[in-house]
Amino acid sequence: METQSSIPFLLRISSIHVGILRSDFLYDHSMRITFMGYINGRMRGNVRIIFLCVVSVNFGVGRAAMVMFRREFGIVVMMDILEVACLILVTGAAGYIGSHTCVSLLEAGFDIVAIDNFANSKPEALSRVQEITGKTFSIHSVDMLDAKALDAVFAEENMEAVIHFAGLKAVGESVAQPLRYYENNLVSTINLCKSMKKHHVNKIVFSSSATVYGAQEQVPLREDMPIAPVNPYGQTKAMIEQILRDIAVADDQFGAALLRYFNPVGAHGSGRIGEDPQGIPNNLVPYVAQVAVGKRAELTVHGGDYDTPDGTGIRDYIHVMDLAEGHVKALSWVLNHTGAEAFNLGTGKGSSVLEVVHAFEQASGVRIPYHIGPRRPGDAARSFADPSKAQQVLGWRATKTLDDMCADTWKWQKQNPNGYGE
Ligand code: NAD
Ligand code: UFG
Repeated sequence: METQSSIPFLLRISSIHVGILRSDFLYDHSMRITFMGYINGRMRGNVRIIFLCVVSVNFGVGRAAMVMFRREFGIVVMMDILEVACLILVTGAAGYIGSHTCVSLLEAGFDIVAIDNFANSKPEALSRVQEITGKTFSIHSVDMLDAKALDAVFAEENMEAVIHFAGLKAVGESVAQPLRYYENNLVSTINLCKSMKKHHVNKIVFSSSATVYGAQEQVPLREDMPIAPVNPYGQTKAMIEQILRDIAVADDQFGAALLRYFNPVGAHGSGRIGEDPQGIPNNLVPYVAQVAVGKRAELTVHGGDYDTPDGTGIRDYIHVMDLAEGHVKALSWVLNHTGAEAFNLGTGKGSSVLEVVHAFEQASGVRIPYHIGPRRPGDAARSFADPSKAQQVLGWRATKTLDDMCADTWKWQKQNPNGYGE
């Protein structure tokens, strides 16, 4: 079920209040005036807009009031314009995509609460997010398999929505350790959904993956194609998508954006945060970056006999900061909608392994030695997105090029040859 809303109309109203919010009174720091606009009902036809004035002495009270009124009256609008920021729980926040998304969320005016068990990440990533943005946030070192510890975070913080990155993600490892993958990814999500329900948090953005499409012959991949994952990792993503769809059917207040990422690469333009794989990288771009910096001797290209122009596999590489912006858009969408919807986050453009190698050589000025090896089991010849649904519904599209992705990866790798270190 969808609730109709008209953001431009509401923004016009909010801009009147921005003037009031910026009055001298606001800058008397002992008090804060917050105006909140709510729409209750449908925009076309029976429109009812209720303005509430909350006078509070600190942020915490303002936020609690906002959450309470939202539950009472319907959809909160004008989040980014309000002086009281909307608080978002980010699970797996210290990871590669989570840390970059935290930067985008903070820069978009959201407040965040970070959860991670640091199984595949370092706390340093979150320190650097704070350094880049100049903003602080609370960090909870919690394993989401521990339902009690997770629920305590919900009891302590007044979250409006969740972005759920936490999970194990290595395809090969999931084949070797299926139980560990099913337990970690599914149980942590079920614990999360139970706490969300208990604490009346009913909006979620979920990290799914293009891997749910399995080995499709047909490209570009569209969200309405049947999904058929071919490994335990992909199965966990498909199952979680289904769990969230089922919750949305049972609960008409629930909203979920299921984001199917293609191949995230690159780093923040500052070179302060980036991908920090443990051990030998599984993925192409981190491997190439480690060859360029001298940590690995040469790249093995997995197959040179595919039915593609240069014989190597084609993928849809997407800059991690474009992906991060996609989360901000998806969050704005989910805060105003109910139901569960899948969205491809990709560029719509495929690049071959050798094109990536050459673009990286160009960006780094370093030659990348490689040899062509056998195909990697389970690899498709080509995989790229039809990203038009995300553009039409979320108003998002990727803007960065393969050259940008290589330049930013190189900056990160050169400045941090050992990642975040010990
Ligand atoms: P990542 O491993 O860098 O980040 C995941 C984070 O989750 C890590 O910091 C890890 O410590 C944390 N985590 C794992 N299990 C946890 C648990 N039980 N409790 C608390 N924290 C836990 O991975 P990423 O590349 O940032 O990916 C983020 C999400 O996006 C994952 O769900 C992944 O499956 C998905 N995804 C990633 C890619 C990719 O190529 N990177 C592609 C498609 C989808
Ligand atoms: N490749 C090599 N040599 C390497 C690594 C990769 O030639 O050392 C090739 C692969 O064969 C493939 C391409 O580079 O043709 C990209 O491979 P990646 O491992 O970087 O990415 P995949 O498309 O195989 O998989 C990634 C994530 C999955 C996710 C999938 C879809 O690893 O988790 O994208 O989002 F499911």
